Amino acid sequence: MWAFLVRPECILCLSSALSVMAQLTDNFSPRINQTHLTPSHLKHRTEGLKVKGSNFTLDGFAFLIVAGTIHYFRVPREYWRDRLLKLKAGGFNTITTHVPWNLHEPVKGQFYFTRNLDLKTFIVTASEVGLWVILCPGPYVGGDLDLGGLPSWLLRDPRMKLRTTYKGFTKAVNLYFDQLIPRIASLQYHKGGPIIAVQMENEYGSYYKDKKYMQYIKRALVERKIQVLLMTADDGQEVTKGHLKNVLATLHMKNINKETYQKLFSFQGLSPVLMTVYTASSFDTWGLIRRTLDLHVLMKDVREMFKLRFSLNFYMFHGGTNFGFMGGAMSSKNYVSMVTSYDYGALLTEDGDYTPEYLAFQEYFSSVLVVPTHLQPERKPKAMYKSVIPSHYLSLWDILPYLEKPIQSVKPICMEKLPVNQGSGQSTGYTLYETSISTGGILTSRDNVQDRAQVFLDEKYIGVLDHSTDHLTLPLKNSYRNYWTLSILVENQGRIAYGQNINKERKGLTGNIYLNNSPLRGFKIFSLEMKAKFIQRDLPNLWKPFPNHVLGPAFFLGFLRIGHTPRDTFIKLEGWTKGVIFINGQNLGRYWELGPQETFYLPGPWLHPGKNEIIVFEELKAGPDIQFTNISQLVLE
Ligand SMILES: *[C@@H]1O[C@H](CO)[C@@H](O)[C@H](O)[C@H]1NC(C)=O
Ligand SMILES: *[C@@H]1O[C@H](CO)[C@@H](O)[C@H](O)[C@H]1NC(C)=O
Ligand SMILES: *[C@@H]1O[C@H](CO)[C@@H](O)[C@H](O)[C@H]1NC(C)=O
Repeated sequence: MWAFLVRPECILCLSSALSVMAQLTDNFSPRINQTHLTPSHLKHRTEGLKVKGSNFTLDGFAFLIVAGTIHYFRVPREYWRDRLLKLKAGGFNTITTHVPWNLHEPVKGQFYFTRNLDLKTFIVTASEVGLWVILCPGPYVGGDLDLGGLPSWLLRDPRMKLRTTYKGFTKAVNLYFDQLIPRIASLQYHKGGPIIAVQMENEYGSYYKDKKYMQYIKRALVERKIQVLLMTADDGQEVTKGHLKNVLATLHMKNINKETYQKLFSFQGLSPVLMTVYTASSFDTWGLIRRTLDLHVLMKDVREMFKLRFSLNFYMFHGGTNFGFMGGAMSSKNYVSMVTSYDYGALLTEDGDYTPEYLAFQEYFSSVLVVPTHLQPERKPKAMYKSVIPSHYLSLWDILPYLEKPIQSVKPICMEKLPVNQGSGQSTGYTLYETSISTGGILTSRDNVQDRAQVFLDEKYIGVLDHSTDHLTLPLKNSYRNYWTLSILVENQGRIAYGQNINKERKGLTGNIYLNNSPLRGFKIFSLEMKAKFIQRDLPNLWKPFPNHVLGPAFFLGFLRIGHTPRDTFIKLEGWTKGVIFINGQNLGRYWELGPQETFYLPGPWLHPGKNEIIVFEELKAGPDIQFTNISQLVLE
């Protein structure tokens, strides 16, 4: 019965998962039966989620939260119900989700709550499936997102103090909450909706730059009619700093740790424990070896939590994809940025398939909880489409004269400060800085390239400046010419998602670039955000037939023809080096030959029968074709 639920290549790991599970199945007799505590059963609602001694209660009944995190914006909308059903069928009763401010308000004052950002529909769908919702409206959410989900336009203020009561920050939060909170307030428990709790901010104890800040966030939510249980969530080390009086403190931790929850009791008194982020695995970053989940440790911990009657939330139950440029970065010693997949080693794979761990958990939960036995969604078959050979290409250099007029500036300007997007600056993508030089020599960046720049002389590729390479030699021979065009194409690879330094994040050229120790002057700056609208409508029609060998940076156009119902597939770009993939105007995200990600998830609902347009922006060198496979490859040797 299980074999068809998992990928064939997972059968081996499945048998080891089953043996772990067999050792760990507990005999809770009788099993905890919470089947009457679902949104459809609880019609006449009196009180919502409450803290009663060491228990949560829901409408007066003892209630154990068994939750998992799914980010609606990392999953195609068409699959929301499928993923939520899988959560429910696995034995979970609650979905936790974070709200990314930067996606909902990408330009100051312009709000988006539709399509893949239709939070309301996501919450309603959860309720229909029989799940409760814990909502994390931030404003900072972390989530390994660009700037932890904060909009980069906040950084235009040089005095900005993110996550504090600094006026420039609270004013922006207030305007955003005025849009967000009324949209979800009617979905709270007492109004008949599924939202049983709201988490304030995220791990504030690890940041803690302003003692008054959490009080302000609480007021901002309560004033906008948030009435359900409020919670804070902190890393085990920082829990005493992040919490607030009369707000339930919850824990983020990797492995369950007695000292930590006893510390929680010591200041909170007898209270239910919620492991808000029980995280077993982690994200992947470009160029680094994949971390994997240890099912033995995981099962031991979860079993322990059940014995102690702790509530838990799995981060991530299903990670999904860092579509577009939503992925963030981290910087402890070195800067590393998130790959496009946010598989996370979660219980469902990036494309929503069951993992052996999912099945092991489902089995374990069934031994301790009454788990609904309604129909479990079947595995969706993946397609292996025929390769597409691009038909046309468009060199970046050829289109520059047709783009919006470049910004002229004596000195370089960082992305955030560029006068684009009605005063919101540029948030993501690429920025091209051009100037003239009259001599060769040594080009140095002094760490002013954020994050990676390709350098060209008269459109000829010279090399890369990035976080680890701060100088390049410009080989200029004497000739009849007086000047040469130096082009610096800088890619923002994602702002750091957490840490004390988020206020310092600026992208593009963040200061001078020096040639033989003199700062370069007189720039033409092109903002290349690569928005869907730009790719679909603003590329000038100067497409040329695709020869065998083309150097980037350039756009490559190809068509995928599909006869039958479109299915999920993975794109593979063998022979290509680095860039971004667009399908029918949707930005699928970045690819990079560096790995560990070798295939890129293309959701079936983003394809249609007939002709599908694929545009690849390749920075350096195009490969021969665009391939499709039915197996995800996200593993380094
Ligand atoms: C769980 O409780 C519900 C109602 O509260 C009951 O109808 C159902 O039979 C119980 N299930 C089990 C397996 O005990
Ligand atoms: C918590 O709930 C359990 C299970 O219903 C119950 O046995 C226990 O007495 C409750 N504890 C408190 C402190 O309410
Ligand atoms: C992938 O496609 C091949 C060829 O059609 C098929 O044999 C294989 O079972 C498929 N694998 C998966 C995981 O769907």
